[in-house]
Amino acid sequence: MEAGLIKKDSEVKLKFIDLTYEGLGVAKYDGLAIFVKGVLPDEEGIVRITKVEKRYAFGEILRLDVISDSRVKVENQLLDSTIPLQHLSYEKQLVFKSKIVKDIFSKSPVLKDSVICETIGSKDAWHYRNKTQVPVRSNKGKMETGVFANSSHRLIPVDDFKINLPGIDEIVAGVRDILTSFNEKPYDEGTNTGNIRNIIVRKSSYTNEVMVIIITRSKSLFPKSKIIPAIVERFPEIVSIVQNINNKRTSTIFGEKSEVIYGKSSYREEILGKSFDITAQSFLQVNIPQAEVLYTKVLELLDLKGTEVVLDAYCGIGTISLALADKAKRVIGIEVIPEAVEIAKLNAVKNNVENVIFECGLVEEVITDFEISLDAVVVDPPRKGLETAFLDSLLEMKVKKVVYISCNPATLVRDLEQFVESGYELSEIQPVDLFPQTAHVEAMIMMSYCGLDKKNRG
Ligand SMILES: C[S@@+](CC[C@H](N)C(=O)[O-])C[C@H]1O[C@@H](n2cnc3c(N)ncnc32)[C@H](O)[C@@H]1O
Repeated sequence: MEAGLIKKDSEVKLKFIDLTYEGLGVAKYDGLAIFVKGVLPDEEGIVRITKVEKRYAFGEILRLDVISDSRVKVENQLLDSTIPLQHLSYEKQLVFKSKIVKDIFSKSPVLKDSVICETIGSKDAWHYRNKTQVPVRSNKGKMETGVFANSSHRLIPVDDFKINLPGIDEIVAGVRDILTSFNEKPYDEGTNTGNIRNIIVRKSSYTNEVMVIIITRSKSLFPKSKIIPAIVERFPEIVSIVQNINNKRTSTIFGEKSEVIYGKSSYREEILGKSFDITAQSFLQVNIPQAEVLYTKVLELLDLKGTEVVLDAYCGIGTISLALADKAKRVIGIEVIPEAVEIAKLNAVKNNVENVIFECGLVEEVITDFEISLDAVVVDPPRKGLETAFLDSLLEMKVKKVVYISCNPATLVRDLEQFVESGYELSEIQPVDLFPQTAHVEAMIMMSYCGLDKKNRG
């Protein structure tokens, strides 16, 4: 084919040279970067071009002629949107995650010489997720659970998601079948009719307790008096069933109203020997044993002596705060979601932790009222990174030790540049894999304030 003539539906032979941060294979052709799912660097094959943009194009692999040594058997091709790295050996997934972090640091003029540690792998590379949120739709006239086909809301039935904790997938299918047997109907987005939108299952990694959340379009779930006993009889590990009503035409899963229709309003999880009550909408890391590795590393890096006042910013239900409390004089957790703060307070009481206080509000606002001086700060923000106002306040406080936990290397680097330019030195950059088989990267950074003078003197 002549240069400049690549068109949709053309078939080209490509050699792949890299992986994007989303796990797509990258090849160069006709001056364009071509992105293809399910292929690896060093592989070659025939690709059909599916979409052409000005500087790049997308394609799908038709035939692989050269296969990488890093390729492993694909568990289920239908899951390529939820586990996009399933064709890459786990060992090489960890190398990929370190490289994502290295690449992004190397592009920063301020951070380009940083040393990145190798990614700490998860004990379980499969069946580690403690929560699944499965859409329910009609497929060939049957109520089905599964995944949405790429960029669409067409449901592909799937019963084995490969990464959920043992037992979770069976509960999703069992609840769906019980609802079907009582003539409940799947939700239809086109007409906003039908009732069952999602089945969510959350399971403890250590206590075996399970919570089921059924998202419905209407208030009715009929006959509840028969549905609930049928579910609980089949799955006695369920300690809580919550019905959440979402009657809006939206892709947001949860609606505003929830009702506990069986058992408790929470299930119990254990993290680093402490007990946590988790409610339906609480944020919780999905891979608990690996979150414990992450939190243990935070404690190791901070090396607290028991005299320090520590801030846990963006604290969620206080999992990190309670881990810090054993080692610090006092811990302050800040979180914006009132329900999470309530649970954090209850969890502190339940675990007899008395040196922690939780403040509800935006970190960028709450911090402006702080009168005590902080010895250390842990920040664990959402993907968008630190709020500018919060970052400015932190930098002004010149807190001695800061640990930054990030799920987005791009915003991490943006924020770290500010820390370094304000007198901080990074001592450890440690990626930790919390999400095997996916392209998500989590990293933790330890930094200490040494002042601009010392930095400039080198
Ligand atoms: C990545 S989670 C971390 C939770 C917790 N550290 C953990 O490991 O379970 C981020 C948390 O920050 C909260 N959050 C987001 N923006 C916030 C803000 N501006 N102020 C306070 N909390 C915020 C979210 O509600 C969420 O609970």
